[in-house]
Amino acid sequence: MTGFDGWMRSTQADAERALDQYLPAATALPLRLHAAMRYAVLDGGKRVRPLLVQAAAELFDAAPANVARAACAVEMIHAYSLVHDDMPCMDDDALRRGKPTVHVAYDEATALLVGDALQAQAFLVLAGMEIDPARAVAMLRLLADAAGSAGMCGGQAIDLASVGMDLSLAELEQMHRLKTGALLRASVLLGAWCGTTPDAAATAALEAYAAAIGLAFQVIDDVLDATADSATLGKTAGKDAADHKPTYVSILGLEPSRALAEKLRSDAHRAVLPFGDKARHLRDLADLIVQRKA
Ligand code: IPE
Ligand code: IPE
Ligand code: MG
Ligand code: MG
Ligand code: MG
Repeated sequence: MTGFDGWMRSTQADAERALDQYLPAATALPLRLHAAMRYAVLDGGKRVRPLLVQAAAELFDAAPANVARAACAVEMIHAYSLVHDDMPCMDDDALRRGKPTVHVAYDEATALLVGDALQAQAFLVLAGMEIDPARAVAMLRLLADAAGSAGMCGGQAIDLASVGMDLSLAELEQMHRLKTGALLRASVLLGAWCGTTPDAAATAALEAYAAAIGLAFQVIDDVLDATADSATLGKTAGKDAADHKPTYVSILGLEPSRALAEKLRSDAHRAVLPFGDKARHLRDLADLIVQRKA
């Protein structure tokens, strides 16, 4: 196991433990809602957002307990976005993280409530940080902005409104930056803000890194939808073309999309050069995001 693999596995295991702790207990009422929330979040997913939180936190000597809360908060928002994304009124998907989607395993109303409750839980968990109150408010605002209509929800709205349309490259990029990039940016900044305050130069470097990996992540998601199989992905492959979604693959083509992701990977590496060796996990995560097979 390389150094990065070991770090990744232990960070994923830490995230799993913290999520288990910060989700409502399976024995708490209402049992069915809490079981469905735990089903949606636990035991699945690559945990890319918690990995980004941890890697950014390492640059700023952050307290582990706050990092765990930030990682859980962003992963809960992400898991909620997946539950709603899969519902019949959105992408209508039956498979997620190798399991039946929440509305299939439970029912649609429960899936709706799981998303609502996970979003609220995310802010509860983040609000419990032991940190300067002004910093806590800034972090809550950052996550709210990333999750809402100026971020993930806004991107999802553009996605749904774009079915069957020929988007320009600029429109496609904007959609991807919102629906996926916003939460990835929040992961990086939340991790950093758990520690000592980044100065202007460090903030600019983190922003440039987050912009590059945020877009690259969804470019590769589009590539994998077109090239990988459902068993590998743990979600239905080939869905974008079947649903007439504009994607990097449909608009740019497969090889130019891969080339763009490679360019974004080197942009991400360049952005964190000023941090030197301390940023090695951020660099490794940029590689993972672009070279992943699922
Ligand atoms: C899938 O995200 C949805 C997008 C935002 C592209 P991930 O690929 O991170 O999904 P999990 O968390 O590993 O299941
Ligand atoms: C969803 O994008 C991004 C979210 C905000 C959940 P996709 O619809 O492409 O995600 P997958 O491919 O279903 O995971
Ligand atoms: Mg979608
Ligand atoms: Mg989808
Ligand atoms: Mg997709």
